[in-house]
Amino acid sequence: MTEASRKILVTSALPYANGPLHLGHMLEQVQTDIWVRFQRSRGNHCLYICADDAHGTAIMLSAEKAGITPEEQIEQVKAAHLKDSTGFLVHFDNYHSTHSEENRRWSETIYKRIEQQGHIAVREITQSYDQEKGLFLADRFIKGTCPKCKTPDQYGDNCEACGATYSPVDLIDPISALSGTTPVDRESDHLFFRLGDFEELLRGWTRSGSLQPAVANKLNEWIEAGLQDWDISRDAPYFGFEIPGHPGKYFYVWLDAPIGYIASTEDYCARSGEDFDSYWIREDETELYHFIGKDIVNFHGLFWPAMLHTAGLRMPNAVYAHGFLTVDGTKMSKSRGTFIMASTYLEHLDPEYLRYYFAAKLSSGVDDIDLNLNDFVQRVNSDLVGKVVNIASRCAGFLRKKFDNRMASECSEQALLDEFISAGDDIAALYETRDFGRAMREIIALADRANQYIDDKKPWVLAKEEGREQEVQDVCSTGINLFRVLITYLKPVLPEMAARAEQFLQIDVDWHSLKSPLIDHQLEVFKPLLQRVDPEHVDAMVSASKA
Ligand code: MSP
Ligand code: ZN
Repeated sequence: MTEASRKILVTSALPYANGPLHLGHMLEQVQTDIWVRFQRSRGNHCLYICADDAHGTAIMLSAEKAGITPEEQIEQVKAAHLKDSTGFLVHFDNYHSTHSEENRRWSETIYKRIEQQGHIAVREITQSYDQEKGLFLADRFIKGTCPKCKTPDQYGDNCEACGATYSPVDLIDPISALSGTTPVDRESDHLFFRLGDFEELLRGWTRSGSLQPAVANKLNEWIEAGLQDWDISRDAPYFGFEIPGHPGKYFYVWLDAPIGYIASTEDYCARSGEDFDSYWIREDETELYHFIGKDIVNFHGLFWPAMLHTAGLRMPNAVYAHGFLTVDGTKMSKSRGTFIMASTYLEHLDPEYLRYYFAAKLSSGVDDIDLNLNDFVQRVNSDLVGKVVNIASRCAGFLRKKFDNRMASECSEQALLDEFISAGDDIAALYETRDFGRAMREIIALADRANQYIDDKKPWVLAKEEGREQEVQDVCSTGINLFRVLITYLKPVLPEMAARAEQFLQIDVDWHSLKSPLIDHQLEVFKPLLQRVDPEHVDAMVSASKA
């Protein structure tokens, strides 16, 4: 290794504790997990921190509907989320909850610092109130007739029929979606975070290079339009933390959600003995990256840096947004069976198929990513089974039959092997910039070359000829050495397939040991490394998703 190893803290967005994970969530977690595994494979110290986002009205209401307490619900959901993530080979160093003592303490601390520095305003606002439920109603809990096209049964902020957006006070005959009663207007005091105080800070941040160009542009548009105060309080009853000094007022879920990154890190450091301050207070010893979806860049790109700055905490090195997952070209849909839960996928298919497919489609940008189910089957079978695994299986056969699984005592194609090894710098750079799709294409192009080499040398012909035994062993040993390089590059994406390959190769594959080829080396008997994707299993998954 040339550069000194880095210390890196990585997060992905905290999933809401009111429902199961779907493949859109998995896109984000797999993207993050691949990047983290890549960093580790390069010798960096990299922590992957996450948690469930446990607060808010939606969670309170769904627990009520299920006849359990919010605490019971968030515990069950957290266990289910972790099971799904683990099923997709996503490895967190810590998975905590925003409903935790660490998070309460940090939320209070950060809020008090913001308040002490004069960035909180108190204003009375008028909202719709459901007298039967005793609740203020967020827009999505109010229904009524569209003021524009008069279609009944539309939600409080937009009409699905004509696309109009409006305020719930404009709805004709509004009713509460929770109780069916007519809401009344009611006043209450709310606390606002004065985001406009941070205009200069945020302008600097959007120019710092810490953001993708598309995200920086979006944030700039918001800044240009004028930064509005952000309503950070909700009235009781609310499942969350009460605001210190303001009885009956609770932190809005999005205030304490990102603080959950800090709380989860603190919980991790308490158990592992790592130095918390080096991650969240001092800025120069570690790097901090947030992986998120494009729908939540306002929270991570505006409010969050302003909060961190005011609280005297470090700023992120970057926020990395990804696009949304579509399936077969459209938004995931329950009726088409393309709203696929992580657990449903796992009942039918190997997680590494999708890890590879996502990697093949991901870039550093914010474009949406389509899971085309036919292309998925094709691509995995052709690239992984047909090209990568094929190199090992065809070479292993000859080495087993004729050489007792022993590799040749010298490397006959050092130049070819060197080319494969030097391609690693490019591939590493692509991983680093999250251009996983381009990295996969380079790796598969190398696999094509390896197969081409074997096709040219025709070991199956040599094996039948008198006196050419050594050539068979040389060609197949070269094939195995090339395969070893490719598996090293693919390991962040395919950790289990890489583990099976390591078993076969009888070594740990590692980026830094590639320089020494396997010579006079004993292999284990080759076992299949990956099954082909069976399209019937994909169909079964889609049918199960319709149910
Ligand atoms: N709880 C908030 C995040 C708080 S972070 C301090 C939240 N939760 S979420 O469950 O709705 O989404 C979690 C992550 O999954 C977000 O980054 C979101 O963008 C991402 N995705 C949710 N649906 C998605 C797709 N269909 N496609 C890709 N990512 C998607 O937002
Ligand atoms: Zn309408």
